[in-house]
Amino acid sequence: MNRASPVWAVSLIAIGVTGMLMVIAWAPSWTSSAFTSTGQQIYYTGSSAKGPIARTIAGGAFMGPGMMLSAACVDCHGEDGRGGRFGMMFGPVDVPDIRYSALAATRSKDGTTTLGWTESDIERAIRDGVEPDGGRIKAPMPRWHMTDTEVQSVIDYLKEMDRR
Ligand code: HEC
Repeated sequence: MNRASPVWAVSLIAIGVTGMLMVIAWAPSWTSSAFTSTGQQIYYTGSSAKGPIARTIAGGAFMGPGMMLSAACVDCHGEDGRGGRFGMMFGPVDVPDIRYSALAATRSKDGTTTLGWTESDIERAIRDGVEPDGGRIKAPMPRWHMTDTEVQSVIDYLKEMDRR
């Protein structure tokens, strides 16, 4: 039995943990001073003034924790909120338009008509990953553990994007 192996194991764990912390600490280039509202700050950074907003992801270990912890709304839904089709690690993903006008409008998709969402529908989608009809919103959309104030500020920002 090699007596040195526990030392190696501890060193490797330390290197691994350091690497993970570096990924988690990775910050996008947006500077908080540029934001005019909390909603905009959350949209661009996934953080409020209190720091990163906790989030979980449905059904998947297929994205690394570093990537999930750093992705903000803008990274998937885009600067204009319109979403689109993106190639992600596990293939193309259709990211929906989340401007308020798009969510509040009656929509038709695959022959199914969905009534316009209310603000509380949008809130449930963001926090609980549940659609108004009870359907699950799929990964990679995170479930965001936001306070009432935070989720309201994000909804206000979705409205602001309509005015651009
Ligand atoms: C890692 C990518 C990703 C991030 C980050 C992300 N989303 Fe999403 N979001 C998605 C995808 C993909 C869907 C569609 C999932 C589906 O089709 O079930 C979605 C769905 C939604 C929906 C439901 C829209 C609809 O028409 O079904 C809302 C609302 C939403 N996201 C808001 C947000 C907000 C607000 C943030 C930031 C706080 C955010 N998302 C961050 C990928 C993301």
